[in-house]
Amino acid sequence: YSIAVLISGSGSNLQALFDAQDAGDLGGAEVNLVVSDRADAYGLQRALKRGVAAAHVPLPAAPAGAARRAARAAWEERLAAVVATFQPDLVVLAGFMRILSPIFLQHFPDRVINQHPALLPADGGETVLTSSGLRIPALRGAHVVPDALRLGLNITGCTVHRVTPRVDDGPILAQTEVPILPTDDESSLHERIKIAERQLIVQVVRELATSGSLAGQG
Ligand code: GRF
Repeated sequence: YSIAVLISGSGSNLQALFDAQDAGDLGGAEVNLVVSDRADAYGLQRALKRGVAAAHVPLPAAPAGAARRAARAAWEERLAAVVATFQPDLVVLAGFMRILSPIFLQHFPDRVINQHPALLPADGGETVLTSSGLRIPALRGAHVVPDALRLGLNITGCTVHRVTPRVDDGPILAQTEVPILPTDDESSLHERIKIAERQLIVQVVRELATSGSLAGQG
């Protein structure tokens, strides 16, 4: 069961998958490819250290307008071609900070999942009901950790979901609540969220690898 992981940053979620694989705790799944849009993503070094294929597929700068849209489409096709080479059973977005459109997604139907560092509602709505019966805003986009702090929430979490063309939406595979402490700043909160993320992504990948199918998962 082959996995490709897309990252943009440090790759601590990726490392959790490597560690689980080494511990025989990933349901027999193997991470065989790591791809980043950023050359300086430390996650690429983590892959190279283990002899796992690591690819940098940069998003070329282009003047706004038609040229940028064309460059973006070409980048998604290139990304898909690199990933498709490894014929992954699953593509994991773990801290991948680019939005992927059907140009990419069409190549991997129902087999792309994303780790989102906030709670998301099953109905794609604007609020989430927590286990304690509190209704809080559903946080989407690239700044949900500082958003949770700024909103003065005392709870947030992380969600692994199937990727659909709508950003930070799609069927939820698993999620964990994470408390926000009065003393938290962005880094302390994000570290606590990442602890939960590492456990969540391993659990979901193991279940998908052992259940043998993605269809109907969540
Ligand atoms: C994770 O919190 C992920 O949910 C978010 O960006 C962070 C990436 O962290 N999208 P890392 O690169 O896995 O350490």
